[in-house]
Amino acid sequence: MLVNSHSATALENNSSANKKSIIVQLENVSKVYGVGNTEVHALNDVNLTIEKGEYCSIMGASGSGKSTAMNIIGCLERPSSGKYYLDGVDVAELEDADLARIRNLKLGFVFQQFHLLPQLTALDNVMLPMVYAGVPKKERRERAMEALIRVGLEQRLYNKPNQLSGGQQQRVAIARAIVNRPVLLLADEPTGALDSKTTQEIIDIFSQLNACGITIIMVTHEPDVARRTRRVIWFRDGRVIHSHLAPEELGRGVF
Ligand SMILES: Nc1ncnc2c1ncn2[C@@H]1O[C@H](COP(=O)(O)OP(=O)(O)OP(=O)(O)O)[C@@H](O)[C@H]1O
Ligand SMILES: [Mg+2]
Repeated sequence: MLVNSHSATALENNSSANKKSIIVQLENVSKVYGVGNTEVHALNDVNLTIEKGEYCSIMGASGSGKSTAMNIIGCLERPSSGKYYLDGVDVAELEDADLARIRNLKLGFVFQQFHLLPQLTALDNVMLPMVYAGVPKKERRERAMEALIRVGLEQRLYNKPNQLSGGQQQRVAIARAIVNRPVLLLADEPTGALDSKTTQEIIDIFSQLNACGITIIMVTHEPDVARRTRRVIWFRDGRVIHSHLAPEELGRGVF
């Protein structure tokens, strides 16, 4: 595996020196969509703290608020009330442009449907976030190749998404998500569109990334996937009902 000294240093910083620092702090966060009769309370008074280096899964029934929580943590939406501190920064204080910059520099996103640009090669898809981050072209290329090698796609650099399997497309999406060296990787049902063998391969990659110090929060409906993480956060009706459940307890009918 080719990891240059620069990124290795960044990963070390994540994994050791700052291990106890808090990346995500939600304080009494609520989210209401719509008004009057159409009001939906997607999140109710959520309190959640996630430290650097954690690997968490979010579980819960459909409609329980998992994606809403991820969208707020990912600065794609703002809370209706309550406070959100991302890596110590009060998100409410930020203008939309600053929020977009923070999203690009501090966060990586992986979604169920990959969201790759179909006309671009794997390499170009992974280089894209660095264009917005202002990384020089030569470095963009080197870092994108490094990220694609990390997810095992060195043989597929110049393929477009429609020439790749679902699992390979998700690997490209993961490479794109880590290429700006985010403090936090957010994945909303990243294996939801994959078969069970490919799911295991993708989860192996997440485990390796976390072992290198990347903080990960992953929404999943699959107990087998949640069991591979180190903490399960359980949502029901827009509330966190458990957040310290050991993943091993998932199979024992606790719920
Ligand atoms: N943009 C929106 N406008 C109105 N209501 C919304 C919006 N987004 C989500 N909701 C509602 O908020 C609630 C929580 O939705 P959310 O998408 O967070 O659920 P989820 O736990 O991710 O579900 P799933 O497992 O099906 O993805 C649901 O009742 C949903 O209909
Ligand atoms: Mg969802």
